[in-house]
Amino acid sequence: MAPRKLAAGNWKMNGTIASLAEVETLMREHGSARCEILICPPATLVHPMVERAGQGVVAVGGQDCHAKDSGAHTGDIAAEQLRDAGAVYVIVGHSERRADHGETDAAVSAKAVAAHRAGIASVICVGETEAQRDAGQTLDVIARQLAGSVPDCATAANTVIAYEPVWAIGTGRTPTNEQIAEVHAAMRAALVARFGDGAGFRLLYGGSVKPSNAAEIFAIADVDGALVGGASLKASDFGAIIAAL
Ligand code: G3P
Repeated sequence: MAPRKLAAGNWKMNGTIASLAEVETLMREHGSARCEILICPPATLVHPMVERAGQGVVAVGGQDCHAKDSGAHTGDIAAEQLRDAGAVYVIVGHSERRADHGETDAAVSAKAVAAHRAGIASVICVGETEAQRDAGQTLDVIARQLAGSVPDCATAANTVIAYEPVWAIGTGRTPTNEQIAEVHAAMRAALVARFGDGAGFRLLYGGSVKPSNAAEIFAIADVDGALVGGASLKASDFGAIIAAL
């Protein structure tokens, strides 16, 4: 049986305890959603959200983890600590982390390994900048990021891949359906070549997904869900995206 599609919300550095009311609304209104629902709030909200969501309708994830299990790394968070707080996923290699914190593919891969060691699934992000797309380098960039960021221990059960073109994040701009299809087909082919036919990784698209374009994006071949930023903050918007999946 094909794995359930995944609607994942990345709250980034947004949200307070009061925001948990959005999750309660989602649970009330989308209790019988066909797809799996994941929200990755800031670290401060992981445990409170787990307490509200109980890992039932809404799964909870972190937005980043350290590659080590513990130690002197002020301000960082270990995958094991996320697991302890009730997280079942963690995003790694988001372009904002790659840009703001200089994370390399090797660093992202090490974080994914740490997540898997802790029993958490990773959502590994890849995506080209606008300059790279304009230079015709998109497929090369994605191939390089996939090869370097996805560890050998990745399986469909512990890894989800998210294609997020950097220029589409928070801009209201999205690639054409053909451009998304081209990248997702290339990612699928690269993963099959490396992990075998049956690997069946879920491939998410992310970047300005909103209620008005969700259904069209979800109809594209090899799109198994979405990683949603801004539109995941409100239950009404995220709920409409969930309903389209
Ligand atoms: O991780 C999700 C993200 O980067 C997309 O953000 O606000 O364009 O949906 P947004």
